[in-house]
Amino acid sequence: MLNRDQALALLQWAGEQNPGPWTDHSLHAARAAQEIARRCGLDGERAWVLGALHDIGRWEGVRDLHHTIAGYRLLMEKGDEGAARICLTHSFPLPDPSVYLGEWDVSEAERAFITEFIARARMDDFDRLIQLCDALCLPQGVCLIEKRLIDVALRHGVSERTPEKWRAIFAIRDEFERRMGASVYAPFDEAVSNTFTARIG
Ligand SMILES: [Fe+2]
Repeated sequence: MLNRDQALALLQWAGEQNPGPWTDHSLHAARAAQEIARRCGLDGERAWVLGALHDIGRWEGVRDLHHTIAGYRLLMEKGDEGAARICLTHSFPLPDPSVYLGEWDVSEAERAFITEFIARARMDDFDRLIQLCDALCLPQGVCLIEKRLIDVALRHGVSERTPEKWRAIFAIRDEFERRMGASVYAPFDEAVSNTFTARIG
């Protein structure tokens, strides 16, 4: 398993290959995952690593769904199967690949692999935690989930099944709020200012 220093070094390398706001988003997702995990009795260090690496497949350039399988491959090569898994699962809060909003810029074989992987995946605490933190974090930090969902919709579009996906994310938020005994925004001082001032889209 990769530790924090290894994950950070990998993210820095990936950011040099394909510079963009995605690396700041990843660092905030890592911090959010750590803070929420600690409040739920989960391993905060592991959560940080998984949050930092969930989009690592973006190292290869500006791609859409392909970033999930690129990250999976890279992290399998690095020997961290759990982090590799999250590269795939973080994009599917609904375990139905047909709901993915972006472009399926993958080969037929990759499409078949992703579809089967997600169909078989039993989402665990860390899968759901990173799905949540992906939905919480702009490149500027934590904001209202609803704002981040609009940010994603403006960039990737929506379908008639988008509300289903949004409800799945709200259900994950509710689950973690029950476990924390607090709002998922409570640990994050920047949430209010990001919600009202960060530019999106
Ligand atoms: Fe992400």
